Amino acid sequence: MQRVAFTNDVPAALRQALMAGSYSRVAVLVDATTRQLVLPRLADVLAGAAVVVMPAGDTHKTIDTVCDVWRGLQQAGATRSSVLVNVGGGVVTDLGGFAAATYKRGLPFINVPTTLLGAVDAALGGKTGVNFGGLKNQVGAFAEAADVIVSACFFDTLPREQLLAGYAEMVKHALLSSDEALADVLQADVCALPAGDLLALLRQSVEVKRRIVASDPLERGPRKALNLGHTVGHALESLMLERGRPVAHGTAVAWGLVAELVLSHLALQFPSAQLHRLAAFVRERYAAPAIGCDDYAALLESMHRDKKSQAGEINCTLLRACGQPEVDCAVADDDMRTALDIFRDLMGV
Ligand SMILES: NC(=O)c1ccc[n+]([C@@H]2O[C@H](COP(=O)([O-])OP(=O)(O)OC[C@H]3O[C@@H](n4cnc5c(N)ncnc54)[C@H](O)[C@@H]3O)[C@@H](O)[C@H]2O)c1
Repeated sequence: MQRVAFTNDVPAALRQALMAGSYSRVAVLVDATTRQLVLPRLADVLAGAAVVVMPAGDTHKTIDTVCDVWRGLQQAGATRSSVLVNVGGGVVTDLGGFAAATYKRGLPFINVPTTLLGAVDAALGGKTGVNFGGLKNQVGAFAEAADVIVSACFFDTLPREQLLAGYAEMVKHALLSSDEALADVLQADVCALPAGDLLALLRQSVEVKRRIVASDPLERGPRKALNLGHTVGHALESLMLERGRPVAHGTAVAWGLVAELVLSHLALQFPSAQLHRLAAFVRERYAAPAIGCDDYAALLESMHRDKKSQAGEINCTLLRACGQPEVDCAVADDDMRTALDIFRDLMGV
């Protein structure tokens, strides 16, 4: 059973996790950024650990980097009674989790997420892996960290864009939870909250993901609720990238949430007041989506190519109301075009 600690005293929580596991050796995976910004803050508790450093960024989430980590583990003399501590954002926890899950058929690992996205999403839930063949997360394994230490204490060095990326996933979790959770998250200025106040919101957000994952760890059904916002979000992200105007993943997810709530309103009567509230929130914080009707064909094509699409139809998770998701909803192309029209109106483009 995975242990999740919510604390801003990470050294103490990590010391406790290491003691609980009675590991024979400790190896640490960091990227170039977390080596510089975070590792010194854990120096005492990780004294004597072998440190493996990978380059920062999603382009390095590859099988070649996994080989480097395996080599590092080998040089450190790691065995199945050792532990790998992943200190970083979603790239480090995804890749480190996969390297640990496969080295000597499985080494325990501990995740210490250092980005907001990592803390509320990537570090939990057991999905590990790497990109392959130009596609995201194509090779991987379900493997849960033995411990995850969720804290807000490392966010002081995160760029605002990174905070907004995590904020979008927190909004998604709140939408999958309740009206009250949504009100709390939209009201809080997550990018400006002190670490102490943010911790309670992180816990609320993580508990939503944990509850959904526990009901369906291998994503056969209910876990697909976590795809909310991602069908349209991924299409917008890819389109912007192709057009040479890349946007942050979190921005695309925030737009995707608004567009998919428009669909939810049209198909399942999701309350329009909530839709307008979310649209205003996204409009204020995230860049405006530079798209017009001419882009619809490319967007629809991308949604049809999405791995979630089934039997030639676009597939989305929609909401009847906050906390009432419907997974595997087929969306007709005309309905998607209508939703994109309304989405553009709501976003003021
Ligand atoms: N496994 C899952 O369920 C899951 C869920 C969502 C996303 N993901 C994956 O997570 C990845 C995205 O995660 P991410 O946004 O954390 O990316 P990331 O790990 O690349 O981190 C973003 C950037 O922030 C830097 N960074 C990390 N901590 C920092 C800190 N405290 N201060 C300053 N800079 C810091 C990193 O070095 C990196 O340059 C993607 O690969 C995505 O596929 C996985």
